[in-house]
Amino acid sequence: MNEKYHLETLAVRAGTERSQFGEHSDALHLTSSFIFKSAAQAAERFANREPGHIYSRFSNPTVSAFEERLAILEGAECCVATSSGMAAILSCAMGLLKSGDHIVCSAQVFGATVQLFGGILKRFGIETTFVAGSSPAAWQKAIQPATRLLFLETPSNPTMEIFDIAAISQIAKKAGALLVVDNAFCTPILQRPIDLGADIVIHSATKFLDGQGRVLGGAVLGKRSVVYENVFSFLRTAGPTLSAFNAWVILKGLETLRVRVEAQSASALELARWLEKHPNVERVYYPGLASHPQFALAKKQQKGAGAIVSFDVKGGKDAAWRVVDGTKLLSITANLGDTRSTITHPASTTHGRISQEARNTAGIGDGLLRVAVGLENIEDIKTDLARGLA
Ligand SMILES: Cc1ncc(COP(=O)(O)O)c(C=O)c1O
Repeated sequence: MNEKYHLETLAVRAGTERSQFGEHSDALHLTSSFIFKSAAQAAERFANREPGHIYSRFSNPTVSAFEERLAILEGAECCVATSSGMAAILSCAMGLLKSGDHIVCSAQVFGATVQLFGGILKRFGIETTFVAGSSPAAWQKAIQPATRLLFLETPSNPTMEIFDIAAISQIAKKAGALLVVDNAFCTPILQRPIDLGADIVIHSATKFLDGQGRVLGGAVLGKRSVVYENVFSFLRTAGPTLSAFNAWVILKGLETLRVRVEAQSASALELARWLEKHPNVERVYYPGLASHPQFALAKKQQKGAGAIVSFDVKGGKDAAWRVVDGTKLLSITANLGDTRSTITHPASTTHGRISQEARNTAGIGDGLLRVAVGLENIEDIKTDLARGLA
């Protein structure tokens, strides 16, 4: 299937390869390994002289269907599926970097990404400079001769800052480095980083791609020469592979991605406008509001503002926790991108294990809450939040 179809058509149909039974829905190939007709065929497959599956740590038809569909949606040459979003970031780093290399990373990324780069990779001789804010000048300043990777999320988690992908990709190119964009918040429905100049796209498929809070998954996408040669080589040996079952669940999620993302984003905009007028809300972080400092950039770079709304509650942590504990409908949980709306207090959960200094740099105050808007009626969501905000 090629790109002559619209995105929503591709999300439903791309990558499907039917077996001899002609099943309509994608088949779930639950098998650890694949059999060969002969010793000679086994040898040919292992030597890479004959295409075909060998062992599900390397590849599996259901996983391949997911990879092909997501690659087409992101406009990428190649996709490698991983067992989680963090496995995607780890595989990207392990496949592309070596001791002595340097990463420039946004200070406003998911807490585990900060720990992976600043803690674990540091032990293996890979240094990371964390950049506060999205100003391209600050990113330029952080570049070193050994810089190989620039990493960002846009919108960032949880403060919804927007990064100019085209401008930062130019900085990466000039430095001979690769720009990696975590596209979990937007999905290809709202933003295609490769079209804007990014080299690699990361997904936590756990979020909107599954979209129903069922399974973990991830993906690394980009040029075949980078993603297949380097990232896949690491993955097939080290093993953070996506399971066939999870790939099948996420394939089903992709089929409804556009309608979910559009409906959830429309509700998020309504929620953001309502919160902005609430007397007990200090500030709302949502790129679809004209008051957002990068409203114009978000409009240029994204097709919609997304389904995540963050806001500062007046009164700090106690007041924020009152809002969380006042909910009866919203799920108090760290996940996002689900059809069920979720509420999170980042400072004590998703970003609780990074230092206070890192939280300050990322702008994550004690009164900050993040709501990932689901598919419930927006009036019910407002009523749920109004209780604790009163
Ligand atoms: C933006 C972003 N990237 C990556 C991850 C990690 O994904 P996973 O939990 O699938 O490992 C998360 C998880 O919350 C996230 O929000």
